[in-house]
Amino acid sequence: MNKQESLIELKPLVDKSREIVEGHGNRDEKLQLICDLLDEKVKIFDWTGFYLADPEADRELVLGPYVGEATEHTRIAYGQGICGQAADTHETFVVQDVSKATNYLSCSMHVKAEIVVPVMKDGEFVAELDIDSHTRDSISEEHREVLEEICDIVAELF
Ligand code: SME
Repeated sequence: MNKQESLIELKPLVDKSREIVEGHGNRDEKLQLICDLLDEKVKIFDWTGFYLADPEADRELVLGPYVGEATEHTRIAYGQGICGQAADTHETFVVQDVSKATNYLSCSMHVKAEIVVPVMKDGEFVAELDIDSHTRDSISEEHREVLEEICDIVAELF
């Protein structure tokens, strides 16, 4: 897939996410619809979910809506794994080969690549979008660009 094709395929996901955010339902229902959308439309996405900053805990993520295999990582401390590092640094993490990552929490032996995008609201970390792929080296710059746009829109829900 070349860059132009992939952006043409991916850009409608931004508009669709905006429709979901502005549509009916509560926050969890909307986050679930966005997970379902990304899972359905992007072949290389094999687990898609949101972790939320738990307001009742000290620097801890709690698993929110997701689609894919159940995970044992329902709570993750900031700093732990790829998810915890994104929560700490507020930066997007792209790992093309999880076997080479030193601070990584495994959810399934099938996962080969992962992207985690923070959701920032008024400069504060509120949540993150975590996506796993069963294909090594599969996460493109276009995926990152589109997912970051979607997370900017998702921030309106917080
Ligand atoms: N791999 C993540 C843990 C979450 S699961 O992928 C759903 C990490 O290293 O933080």
